[in-house]
Amino acid sequence: MKIDVNLGANSYSIYIENNLLSRAAEYIRTVFTGRRILIISDDQVYPLYGEKLSKQLASDYECRPLVLPHGEATKDFQTLPGVYTALLDAKISRSDLIVALGGGVIGDLAGFAASSFLRGVKLIQIPTSLLAQVDSSVGGKVAVDLPQGKNLVGAFYQPSLVLIDPTVLDTLSSRFIHDGMGEVIKYGCIKDAGLFRTLESHGSFEELKEDLPAIIHRCVDIKRVVVEHDQFDTGERMLLNFGHTLGHTIEQYYNYGRESHGEAVAIGMYQISKLAEKECLTAEGTSERILQVLRTYGLPYECGVSLSELTKAIALDKKNLNNRLNLILLKEIGASYIHPSTEEFFLKYGNTII
Ligand SMILES: NC(=O)c1ccc[n+]([C@@H]2O[C@H](COP(=O)([O-])OP(=O)(O)OC[C@H]3O[C@@H](n4cnc5c(N)ncnc54)[C@H](O)[C@@H]3O)[C@@H](O)[C@H]2O)c1
Repeated sequence: MKIDVNLGANSYSIYIENNLLSRAAEYIRTVFTGRRILIISDDQVYPLYGEKLSKQLASDYECRPLVLPHGEATKDFQTLPGVYTALLDAKISRSDLIVALGGGVIGDLAGFAASSFLRGVKLIQIPTSLLAQVDSSVGGKVAVDLPQGKNLVGAFYQPSLVLIDPTVLDTLSSRFIHDGMGEVIKYGCIKDAGLFRTLESHGSFEELKEDLPAIIHRCVDIKRVVVEHDQFDTGERMLLNFGHTLGHTIEQYYNYGRESHGEAVAIGMYQISKLAEKECLTAEGTSERILQVLRTYGLPYECGVSLSELTKAIALDKKNLNNRLNLILLKEIGASYIHPSTEEFFLKYGNTII
């Protein structure tokens, strides 16, 4: 399955296919004719899939790996000097290539390194986590974290190619499968009632597996359309933030130590829809359907804190400018919209424990 992302000079293709990793070099050759490649990966992914990739590339290219510790801490700004040093050691020039082989952490970090090293080196994304396959590898947002917050230094930098092999998810831990399913459910909620019904029709992730390439394709295509309309995130792309206002707040409230991002967004999607139903901004019964799907795919839907306590943290959210909040709500499953609001939306229900 192939998806073409049409962004003028920054256009690229995304391929989604089981066992694609075994044939990655064929696809890479079609977009890259330079000499040197640095594969950036992490110490959980590279031992599983690194050789499979580098062996295919070794006959045509000078190819080296840079294997970093796994986890969000690696996406720190302070990791960058080591990445630039590895790029210099590998003699990567502007006509060479960086391949990001890993989850969203590696994709974002390697992507930012590619956008900034020598003012831009070609980038190919080979996402290996569900979240990276359906979300972070598509759309061109790349970033690193500062001690003051996540993704504070970044760029819009489109890859030349994205290769998605759903079979690599067989080795992904269930927590990260759940996390990625949060994003899949989000796509169904905001844009695709049919996708949501497919998710409702299965009883677990295991059951859904045979539909996975098609489901990933659907999610990526939704993101493609949104990104094509709003490459630089000034309008429609905001719809992708469904569940994120409360989600970020929950993450901040627990200092990123309890719920993962996907889990926090899952709670956010359900709870914002419940509140919006009370305000007659969302069709009745919508939040109940979200709740059932979250349960099916092992995601939480409540966090046990009152809204007034959480809203103290909302004030710090970077998307909250001049006390204005652009809330993403559902008219119904599959239809989302931007609802300009303020903190009052939450304070009105301050005593509600979500
Ligand atoms: N750029 C964007 O648009 C965008 C969108 C959403 C999230 N993100 C970013 O993505 C990051 C989170 O991504 P993530 O959830 O993929 O985290 P991650 O990259 O840390 O991967 C999760 C864990 O799974 C392991 N892993 C990955 N693929 C595996 C596989 N196939 N088999 C076994 N283990 C595997 C990794 O080593 C890691 O320990 C965050 O930093 C977030 O800010 C970016």
